[in-house]
Amino acid sequence: MQVENDPLAAFWMPFTANKAYKANPRQLVSANGMYYRSADGREILDGTAGLWCCNAGHCRPEIAEAIAEAARTLDFAPTFQLGHPLVFELARRVAAIMPEGLDRIFFTNSGSESVDSALKIALAVQRARGQGSRTRLIGRERGYHGTGFGGIGVGGIVNNRRAFGPGLAGTDHIRHTHGVAGNVYARGFPPHGAELADDLQRLVDLHGAETIAAVIVEPMAGSTGVLIPPAGYLQRLREICDRHGILLIFDEVITAFGRVGAATAAEAWGVTPDIITLAKGLTNAAVPMGAVAVKRELHDAVVDGEAGGIELFHGYTYSGHPLASAAGLATLDLYAREGLFDRAADLAAYWVEAAHSLRGRRHIVDIRTIGLVAGIELEPRPGAPTARATELFHACFDNGLLVRATGDIIALSPPLIVEKAEIDRMFEMLGGLVEGVG
Ligand SMILES: Cc1ncc(COP(=O)(O)O)c(C=O)c1O
Repeated sequence: MQVENDPLAAFWMPFTANKAYKANPRQLVSANGMYYRSADGREILDGTAGLWCCNAGHCRPEIAEAIAEAARTLDFAPTFQLGHPLVFELARRVAAIMPEGLDRIFFTNSGSESVDSALKIALAVQRARGQGSRTRLIGRERGYHGTGFGGIGVGGIVNNRRAFGPGLAGTDHIRHTHGVAGNVYARGFPPHGAELADDLQRLVDLHGAETIAAVIVEPMAGSTGVLIPPAGYLQRLREICDRHGILLIFDEVITAFGRVGAATAAEAWGVTPDIITLAKGLTNAAVPMGAVAVKRELHDAVVDGEAGGIELFHGYTYSGHPLASAAGLATLDLYAREGLFDRAADLAAYWVEAAHSLRGRRHIVDIRTIGLVAGIELEPRPGAPTARATELFHACFDNGLLVRATGDIIALSPPLIVEKAEIDRMFEMLGGLVEGVG
């Protein structure tokens, strides 16, 4: 077959309006620190850390060097019945920054794989503890847990499931926490809605606790528009899980590694789950990698529960790949050396003020902020939901700012190295451009 003339046709782009994109493509060709460079040579201020992932800023030389060195030294080594020093060291280092007790680390290559791995680990743990009837997995409406069949099963986004058949059996969903009266323009945790956690009790009453293995939630839902948990909500969820022997999984694919001012949202917000999923900021996104942090006693239940041989029949060829491990170690070094998690915590107050300065601008109906995250909700255009945010996303890009549009919400989550002047510029630009969209 001949190579096609159209240079854009062959790549079937993920989560993209392919026809619209290819009619008006916008490409990024390089990056440095807080900035991308577009194919037409413009600097684009990165308001999104790529896709919630380049927390230390782009193209950090220390990470690039570590990857290059690993590529020269050990391009690949299986971690099935073998291993290599970098992956053991990375596991130790990740364990050291997880909440107390979650110090057993399973490696994957993405957030989606981390979620599927966490769900399987939860099932394996329940079985090892003699609770094999616990096979039900509970998610939450508007939750995003990646695109594996496990992730879309517990996820709460209809479009991600619609085309793909019945999926995973035995899932159910608690209600989301968005849209509670009195919560608009809240700064940090919205005051109302902790009782929505009791929806888990409803599912316990409906299905029986003895059928439920785990509940998975994002501590803060990012992909469906920055939905911050109501004050007390996560604590209440933890209590209900404890009462009924249900494992609590926090999907921290975007909230970990400094985004909310600590290594994890669990630490920042004082609620410890049983399992945490990780990805993105783990390697600063320089090499794909994910991980699952598991409480030691859960790990031990599975591993010590087997007399010998393989204990968990699960893994990926690239689990703990040397290049990703090297990138992860260099990234954790950078986070520590530059104090980036604390930096995010220190900048949060400034960030919140800057974001809320947009209140009153045309189309804006809510602003939500926590850590270095902001969700700016627009009134949907009548008859054309999502069009307004998409147009604003394009206008921002064309004027030198990368934001993320999800539904009718603009999400911002800059690299943690962002300067105050850049924060000002982001919100000034956004505030000006939102006035111009129809
Ligand atoms: C909370 C959460 N879980 C899982 C994922 C999936 O990660 P990936 O795209 O790396 O598979 C994402 C991606 O944004 C996410 O935000």
